[in-house]
Amino acid sequence: DDLDKLEDRPPVITIMGHVDHGKTTLLDHIRKTKVAASEAGGITQGIGAYKVQVPIDSKPQICVFLDTPGHEAFGAMRARGARVTDIAIIVVAADDGIRPQTNEAIAHAKAAGVPIVIAINKVDKDGANPDRVMQELSTIGLMPEDWGGDVPMVKISALKGENIDDLLETVMLVAELQELKANPQRNAKGTVIEAGLDKSKGPVATFIVQNGTLKGGHVVVCGEAYGKVRALFDDKGKRVDEAGPSIPVQVIGLNNVPFAGDEFEVVGSLDIAREKAEERAESL
Ligand code: GTP
Ligand code: NA
Ligand code: MG
Repeated sequence: DDLDKLEDRPPVITIMGHVDHGKTTLLDHIRKTKVAASEAGGITQGIGAYKVQVPIDSKPQICVFLDTPGHEAFGAMRARGARVTDIAIIVVAADDGIRPQTNEAIAHAKAAGVPIVIAINKVDKDGANPDRVMQELSTIGLMPEDWGGDVPMVKISALKGENIDDLLETVMLVAELQELKANPQRNAKGTVIEAGLDKSKGPVATFIVQNGTLKGGHVVVCGEAYGKVRALFDDKGKRVDEAGPSIPVQVIGLNNVPFAGDEFEVVGSLDIAREKAEERAESL
């Protein structure tokens, strides 16, 4: 019946790498936005989740991208990003090479069993040396496909928009091999990727739905927080009725601010939700 019916779902792709290697600029180019230029100190502070249509063989396909900060203080966010993701794009600046957060990002992706695609960025710069980057990566066990290994590496300039199509095609090929499926008919479950308190909206949480479909009016429990979904907003802040598998969505209606990394699930009633939330609170 319907409850057993799996359908294709969009890939969730996390962009990771050392600080200032060009993660947000890459995503800006893909989304046709200019987020990097407006960030405080040029540093990404949180996980941004975006639904994007990318043309693959001139056919638009939906992908979900997570941007993560490269600053060393944000290791937990990179770990979280890796956990909810299907593919990791590790950005390495060709004029800088492998740096501590490059290694850390690779370790998170490996620990989560997530396939890696390397974007060798800033190839437009004087002093860019993509071959040296490939050399460095091969010495830590990531052998480039071009050298007979199994790790796709694409040379790009995020700033100039060069070779991004190549990168996206490569990522989508990896995604196809994964045969990503979910069942939109199920009760929604997934992961909290960010949460906070909004002065007028109250607790606000960004969820990534991993199975099922989340709708307004559904009762959710996530960590020790719970509540009836009062409204859903997409990544552009537009109110939406529902969010299916892989889709990031902002939710209001929770009684408390959950923790990023908490799992959420839809349950049958507020009583059940309260009970489950209390059980979890006591077991800690
Ligand atoms: P964090 O989020 O702070 O870790 O940085 P990030 O990896 O998101 O890097 P960001 O996109 O903020 O870019 C850092 C700087 O590198 C900015 O000044 C960008 O304009 C520049 N930059 C990014 N990509 C390229 C590129 O392909 N070529 C050149 N020349 N500069 C680039
Ligand atoms: Na930056
Ligand atoms: Mg950034």
